Amino acid sequence: MALVTAGAAGLGLGIAERLAREGAAVMVWDRDEAAIAAARDAVAGLAVQFLAVDLTDPAAIGEAARITEERLGRIDVVVNNAGGSLHTPQPFLEETEEDWARVFALNVDATVRTLRAVLPGMVERRYGRIVNLGSKAGRFGSLFAGANYAASKGAVQSMTLQLAQEFGPFGITCNAVCPGAILTARVDRLLSERKTPDERAAMVAGIPVRRHGRVEDIAAAVAFLASEEAGFVSGAMLDVNGGQAMVA
Ligand SMILES: NC(=O)c1ccc[n+]([C@@H]2O[C@H](COP(=O)([O-])OP(=O)(O)OC[C@H]3O[C@@H](n4cnc5c(N)ncnc54)[C@H](O)[C@@H]3O)[C@@H](O)[C@H]2O)c1
Repeated sequence: MALVTAGAAGLGLGIAERLAREGAAVMVWDRDEAAIAAARDAVAGLAVQFLAVDLTDPAAIGEAARITEERLGRIDVVVNNAGGSLHTPQPFLEETEEDWARVFALNVDATVRTLRAVLPGMVERRYGRIVNLGSKAGRFGSLFAGANYAASKGAVQSMTLQLAQEFGPFGITCNAVCPGAILTARVDRLLSERKTPDERAAMVAGIPVRRHGRVEDIAAAVAFLASEEAGFVSGAMLDVNGGQAMVA
């Protein structure tokens, strides 16, 4: 029984699909009704349900968790996938107070609130798998997003370490998957806006495996950390970036 936040498109949808193919009943929260409709078609036949939730609305999260536990029976796995740089500027001096607040609201506050809603049930049942979406940006800085995004992912990653320590005694693991650039339509657009074709080619040339990531690469990493057999892995920051972090 798994919950994936912001999962009607992009990495979240790939993660939801992968978990469902491995036999989990999955609930996806997303605020975009049109994306939910398209996603329903994309995963037709799999045990994936959807709930329209705006993860920046604190009241909505508690209610969504209640509905999710009612529909799934319990939540064993939570994938805090909601996040992104929200098209805020990369140069630090161009970032406004609002650019910082919006990015922290989605990446950090939504994760905190989702975990507050889901953790009591996991503690009660003495079992849980928490997988948070960090980023290469939060570990080493970003080539195309700003300090607000890097700092928000740093917060998610350090929270992951703390929660791994605090909730380990209750059978709950907490890990982060830290992707490099995954070529979804959104990231492709952002890269073409912010990098010249030559700069883009240089980026790929600097990645040891010589390609950008795919949604499937992230879904596979999340599926491992979400599995029962990953019970001795906790507090890990799993870099999924083709080795890029070693050289860039
Ligand atoms: N794509 C990448 O290259 C990349 C790299 C590193 C980390 N990440 C992280 O992975 C996660 C997923 O990234 P992505 O690129 O797939 O995201 P995305 O921008 O493609 O968004 C996925 C979904 O989030 C939903 N969403 C946005 N705001 C929401 C809100 N307030 N409430 C509910 N749903 C909302 C959208 O409707 C969409 O369906 C994020 O945490 C991101 O920071 C992505």
